[in-house]
Amino acid sequence: MTKVITYGTFDLFHKGHYNLLKHARELGDYLIVGVTSEHFDETRGKINVIDDVLTRVQHVRETGFADQIIIEDHVGQKIEDIQRYDVDIFTVGSDWVGAFDYLKQYCEVVYLPRTPEISSTEIRNSIFQPVRIGIVGTGRIAPRFLEEAKYVSGAVPVAAYNPDWNEVRDFKGKHKELICVDDYDDLLKQVDAVYIASPNETHFDYARRALENGVHVISEKPLAFTRRETEQLYSLSEKNNLVLLEAVKAAYSPGFQELINVAKSGRIGEIRDIESNYTRLANSDSRERTDAKYGGAFLEFGPSVMLPVIKLLGPDYRSISFHSLWDENGVDIYNKLDFVYDNALATTKCGVAVKTEGQLVVSGTKGYILAPSPWWLMKHFEVHFEDASEIENYDPPFRGDGLRYEISEFVRKINGIGRDGYKLTRGESITMSEITEKYMEYKKSIH
Ligand code: CTP
Repeated sequence: MTKVITYGTFDLFHKGHYNLLKHARELGDYLIVGVTSEHFDETRGKINVIDDVLTRVQHVRETGFADQIIIEDHVGQKIEDIQRYDVDIFTVGSDWVGAFDYLKQYCEVVYLPRTPEISSTEIRNSIFQPVRIGIVGTGRIAPRFLEEAKYVSGAVPVAAYNPDWNEVRDFKGKHKELICVDDYDDLLKQVDAVYIASPNETHFDYARRALENGVHVISEKPLAFTRRETEQLYSLSEKNNLVLLEAVKAAYSPGFQELINVAKSGRIGEIRDIESNYTRLANSDSRERTDAKYGGAFLEFGPSVMLPVIKLLGPDYRSISFHSLWDENGVDIYNKLDFVYDNALATTKCGVAVKTEGQLVVSGTKGYILAPSPWWLMKHFEVHFEDASEIENYDPPFRGDGLRYEISEFVRKINGIGRDGYKLTRGESITMSEITEKYMEYKKSIH
């Protein structure tokens, strides 16, 4: 019996996939098809796959050509599979010619002719209406956004806005492909969506005006300084059928979601404590260190450190208390926030002029999860138990600086995919705003 194996993502199953599987089956008597897992695709940088793995497996099964279907989830698996299943022929389409010659020491390698003029990428691009994005604010993060948007099909930055004409001109000098304007209404007329990366106190107003004008919004955190304002933005987005996403970057990374799932699976028992830290020393002349009203540690990093707490322990805390260290200008340079829940405690720490370990620890009745610094760019976490020698390691994928994950979520939602996203829900975002509002009151009570 001649055994044949082939692999693919098989997203949005098309004629090219059908032909490939048919020809692969004809090469032998038994066909094994490896379908990539979602995590494996993310590791390989394919973050826009639309069909989930079960749907893709089902489509392969429906062709009737596969005698066995397996999931491919790691690099090097092909060599393992060929030996494990005693495979005679490995095959893929001719777009891969040469790429798998290294398998020739294990079995025969056949590159089958690729069906011309069709691919999942092309279908995805036709489904994903290009989203014309305008960047609001041309500071440090704008160039990073432009760089990361290149990895997301359908995300097309076309314009940038800054109220200061000199800043606009400088930005235009470096990004000639963009329309650069100093009039916000003008920007809103030229785009489908805005990415708001302006100073903290301006987010709400820019977001509101965009949503009122039929423009989708992804905004840097905090969305607003009061619960009521954040609710207003979400209501407006729903009323106008627009997407509103708060860009708490960690929420959208594959590793953070995996950590949340492990924590919720009961692996560490009941969750009883969370410690979540984020510090970055800022220059003494930076906005974070000089703007007493809207700079400082908590407004900079609060939403990020609150995220795991709110996601795992929920909105119903019994009490919260803030403790900050202030510099002589009244800027909060280091902040601790304590949460008390009925059955759990949590502490977050953030700093712009105090450095501490930027770790995330989720403690439970059976063990704890440790994500070392910088957990917000999560590439690794561990599960520990009473027996110190028993450690489970997780190494989730994380590409670039992580912005591509939130941009991808945004574009997918605009295209109607996953609108009920669970990665950062409306409720969670509103709870974070409520806490930010309490922080502003605390700050006022001191200064
Ligand atoms: N394939 C093919 N003809 C096509 C498209 C794909 O023969 N027109 C083959 C590929 O060579 C591969 C298998 O189908 O052996 C699965 O490919 P996959 O990467 O899932 O499909 P693509 O359409 O190439 O996807 P993408 O555009 O995301 O790369």
